[in-house]
Amino acid sequence: MSTNRTFTMIKPDAVENGHIGAILEKITAAGFKIVAMKYTQLSLRDAQEFYGVHRERPFFGELVEFMTRGPIVSAILEKENAVEDFRALIGATNPADAAEGTIRKMFATSIGENAVHGSDSDENAAIEGAFHFSGREIY
Ligand code: CMP
Repeated sequence: MSTNRTFTMIKPDAVENGHIGAILEKITAAGFKIVAMKYTQLSLRDAQEFYGVHRERPFFGELVEFMTRGPIVSAILEKENAVEDFRALIGATNPADAAEGTIRKMFATSIGENAVHGSDSDENAAIEGAFHFSGREIY
């Protein structure tokens, strides 16, 4: 995968609260091109594998329960400097610390239910994108 790509999920809280359209609008208005996208629901096994790096953290059970409780939108986004620019667009993990105008400031309710995911490195963007999409689902 190109280093100008990142991976995102609109998480169950934001989907439940009806924010899919507004979040996609913010993403495309910021100059990201959607090169892959699907509306799906993670199984328990999917979520445990996707968040495997957090397995030993005290919030792991809560995280897996939350991420499997309803549908999500997953997508691969393309833009110059995609990983860093997308993390700036979504804001800090904890919405209480997120800057005004960021997606998490606008739509997230807590550190656990924080509306969106954004990859933290080019390497993880490639791993996470490949977890959700086959090559022929990326345009
Ligand atoms: P994200 O960065 O998308 O992926 C890891 C997730 O773990 C993170 O978003 C938060 O939703 C969640 N997380 C991180 N820290 C905590 C915490 N202290 N309590 C609950 N959930 C957390």
